[in-house]
Amino acid sequence: MDRIAITGGARLEGEIPISGAKNSAIKLMAASLLTEEPLRLTNMPRLADTRFLGRLLQRLGVEVAESEGADGPETLLTTPEIVSGFAPYDLVRQMRASFNVLGPLLARSGQAKVSLPGGCTIGARPVDLHLKALETLGAKIDLHEGYVYAQAPRGLKGGQIDFPFVSVGATEHTLLAAVLADGETVMTNSACEPEITDLADCLNKMGAKVTGAGTPTIRIEGVSRLSGATHAVLPDRIETGTYALAAAMAGGEVRLTKTRSDFIQALIDKMVEAGVDVTSHADGLTVKRGGGRLKAVELTTDPYPGFATDLQAQFMALMTLAEGESVIRETIFENRFMHAPELRRLGADISVQGGEARVRGVAALEGAQVMATDLRASVSLVIAGLAARGETVVNRVYHLDRGFERLEEKLGACGAQVRRLKGDGAEEVE
Ligand code: UD1
Repeated sequence: MDRIAITGGARLEGEIPISGAKNSAIKLMAASLLTEEPLRLTNMPRLADTRFLGRLLQRLGVEVAESEGADGPETLLTTPEIVSGFAPYDLVRQMRASFNVLGPLLARSGQAKVSLPGGCTIGARPVDLHLKALETLGAKIDLHEGYVYAQAPRGLKGGQIDFPFVSVGATEHTLLAAVLADGETVMTNSACEPEITDLADCLNKMGAKVTGAGTPTIRIEGVSRLSGATHAVLPDRIETGTYALAAAMAGGEVRLTKTRSDFIQALIDKMVEAGVDVTSHADGLTVKRGGGRLKAVELTTDPYPGFATDLQAQFMALMTLAEGESVIRETIFENRFMHAPELRRLGADISVQGGEARVRGVAALEGAQVMATDLRASVSLVIAGLAARGETVVNRVYHLDRGFERLEEKLGACGAQVRRLKGDGAEEVE
């Protein structure tokens, strides 16, 4: 299994281009199930998760072709017909978002058998809201032996869905089904994440009638068929925030391009409060940090536009060296502090109680062997390693490869000492 080795202490200077958003790309790819015409996605990130979903979609009947376009990586997805409505456990358990093929399969072919995603390291993460919404749209749902058997032989019907709390996945999943339902669907208390707006924009290009995406109330007037489209995946706000925090941790000056600073305003506010210099510009932002110590700040994760849970681990890494005590409250997932014990291995002073972590800044971190536990947790260890004395080795980096494209190359271009150790470490490549 690959590992990442970081030699701490190098300041970062340079430019990092941000890739297309993973969390948007995988929902957009699922949208290709809704039409027999080609869906061309540009600004595609090339990640383990997108490759993995591509393989599942191929089993269902999608032709997937990757190419290098004038504006970077593209994926062309064409689904002449759904050849199978079956998504097996082995595929769904590896990536929870692949569960979102259920809605489009039902909408296009009236039936599907999709594995429940199963447990997940950052909490229980059930899919009850997804299933309830599909039932409201007229699907008949049965659960047997870990599988969802769903049927809508006469098609889905529009309905009124009031989510009891905000769920990104359930909002997107309902959108992906309701666009082909008969009649109007109204969703209230919907998630407002930019990825929802991106999905709605793409669906509208395909001929859907979605209004209100990006606000809590989304209206969908169902249409009988959708067509192909070309759509550019929006920039990855989590990758943007992660590199902004990496620059703040290591010190120096890094310009993040091909992205949008307004997507991470809640993070920028906290970084500025902590003493980091952040300047927004038309195609991104510049993060600058001099030699002084940062100040500890408090934060609470929240649905968008609040502070993203996907940036909480990375921010905690930054706080390990800040002056004072930082209180970090996690409100989205119940078990999302697994990076805390790993950061402690580097010398951080962190205590966790329930959904609250207290980080007392220390004067220095020291490199050590650490274990990646999930996607965002693993990159927080890389960030900490950038400022730790000596070498930090992050094990199980397949978590990183799921969501960060060419991480060591992007950081390395700014002067970071980051290397990938292949396999057991005997064979080493940059
Ligand atoms: C998405 C993102 C993930 C991000 C999260 C919150 C993708 C692929 N993943 O995950 O990176 O951290 O949004 O911004 O886009 N819940 C239920 N029942 C449901 C659905 C969700 O109880 O049916 C709970 C979850 O367990 C969690 C909370 O609702 O506690 C929010 O989850 P949700 O917004 O659905 O997250 P995901 O879509 O899974």
